[in-house]
Amino acid sequence: MAETNRGRTWWQDAVFYQVYPLSYQDSNDDGFGDLRGVISRIPYLADTLGIDAIWLSPFYRSPMRDWGYDVSDHTDVGPVYGTLDDAREVIEKAHASGIRVIIDYVMNHTSDEHPWFVESRSSRDNPKRDWYVWADGRDGGPPNNWVSVFSGPQWTFDEHTGQWYRHTYLPSQPDLNWRNPEVVEAMLDVMRFWLDLGVDGFRVDAAHQMMKDPEMRDNPPVPPDYVRPWKDMGPYDDFVHLYDYGHPDVHDVHRQIREVLDSYGETMSIGEVHIFDLAEWASYYGELDELHMPFNFHLMAADWDPASLRARIEAVLWHLPEGAWTNWTLGNHDEIRLATRLPDGHERIAALLLLTLPGTPFLYYGDELGMEETVIPDTHARDPWGQNVSYLSRDGCRTPMQWTPGPNAGFTSPGVSPWLPLGPDYQVVNVETQLADPDSILNMYRRLLTLRKKSDALRSRDFASPYEVPDHLLVYTRGEDEMTVILNFGDVVCDAEVEDGTVVFSTHRVDREGEAVSGGKVSLGPVEGVIVAHG
Ligand code: GLC
Repeated sequence: MAETNRGRTWWQDAVFYQVYPLSYQDSNDDGFGDLRGVISRIPYLADTLGIDAIWLSPFYRSPMRDWGYDVSDHTDVGPVYGTLDDAREVIEKAHASGIRVIIDYVMNHTSDEHPWFVESRSSRDNPKRDWYVWADGRDGGPPNNWVSVFSGPQWTFDEHTGQWYRHTYLPSQPDLNWRNPEVVEAMLDVMRFWLDLGVDGFRVDAAHQMMKDPEMRDNPPVPPDYVRPWKDMGPYDDFVHLYDYGHPDVHDVHRQIREVLDSYGETMSIGEVHIFDLAEWASYYGELDELHMPFNFHLMAADWDPASLRARIEAVLWHLPEGAWTNWTLGNHDEIRLATRLPDGHERIAALLLLTLPGTPFLYYGDELGMEETVIPDTHARDPWGQNVSYLSRDGCRTPMQWTPGPNAGFTSPGVSPWLPLGPDYQVVNVETQLADPDSILNMYRRLLTLRKKSDALRSRDFASPYEVPDHLLVYTRGEDEMTVILNFGDVVCDAEVEDGTVVFSTHRVDREGEAVSGGKVSLGPVEGVIVAHG
């Protein structure tokens, strides 16, 4: 084992894979994926694909206004997803197959149908009034100018008690008041409930959102020269979000969450932190006593060219606190599918990048097949964000997993209407067809995952990108110069300078494995990536 790999825990060596349960596998022919469906696909995850851990998006009881991210009971499973026993079985069966399970911890808000909120809104003097954030209006309107992520004011007026409640997202997702110690205790108990059931950790939803300016100052409007740090967020981008997330009190909450996690041994947390100032982003590690990792969205925010990617990668690594470990991702249930976002044919080098950087990779279901973003007709729209700002809909990345070329792609039985339409390419882009084709992207993922598992260098912390290389190449070494990864972003064949060794992986040609590299160069096909092992 490489020296740098000693003393690491499971989640630093693991490859994670996000399962969006509603879209993975339907077991009861209602058109929605469910937990029994996930159970039936564990052999695929463990043996066929070969990932090490899954992140399950929410499966709590929920009125489904935001497809599970509006929780009405944190300690029960929504009927669409199955039962609590099914959840137990997912965890047990996954563990028996060597797969760890983390679940979504939706901490910033609940559903407006959660009994806590029902009580809270019932009267101004209800004991749970202060479990949510209530305020008086200003000049006949909301208390301040904060806008919801999904557009519209972040405040909704409650006729019954004559006050406004805050919601970072939908009006049906009221924000919990994390400054109330009773809320903190109740929500830490939710974590304990699932840890007792055996989960290995949490993906913490909206992990930077719940602490805002207690004085509730207005956000400044964006200046004319403002450069967005991230994707287009519609009307949310009209303001600089200075006061409505990331108040320093947030760190105290994360320390308390960490204490609970640590009391359960080798657990982990990865928090959704959409912050692009790297110093502020890295502050969510605390002194390694807050989140185990803030989610690293920087590859998705970078321009897709070697220089921009290299600059981002090095900047992320440079900003990590001493001893901290990072992660990489290129897709999730909120983003346009990577095969659609990137230039044609780039999904293979994207996979190579994701799986060979120093840190824990997070894959999104279906990306291993190169699934594309699906255009969803208005008649089938599901995402509330898309209903507010149509071009921001996330439905297109949440379509059913494509298992077979047969009816409904094997996601549900023939004749059943899946909750979101299938991708139009499913007869070609599906697990069964791709398994039969040695050159498929799925088989490429499998080879790469196998290689990564065997290679200390690819899982190590060591990374250097030392070469002066042509603009179309991204080149870096892993381990103590044990391996060189070379990605050709160009559309033409080229030679790259590299130390002698052996090609151990090519994104396109299995037959290159074992090819000797001599004379200090290796040739690359258009948009091909290779790994060369030295010594
Ligand atoms: C996070 C989730 C997103 C959800 C939102 C509100 O951003 O990733 O899917 O809509 O939180 O819970």
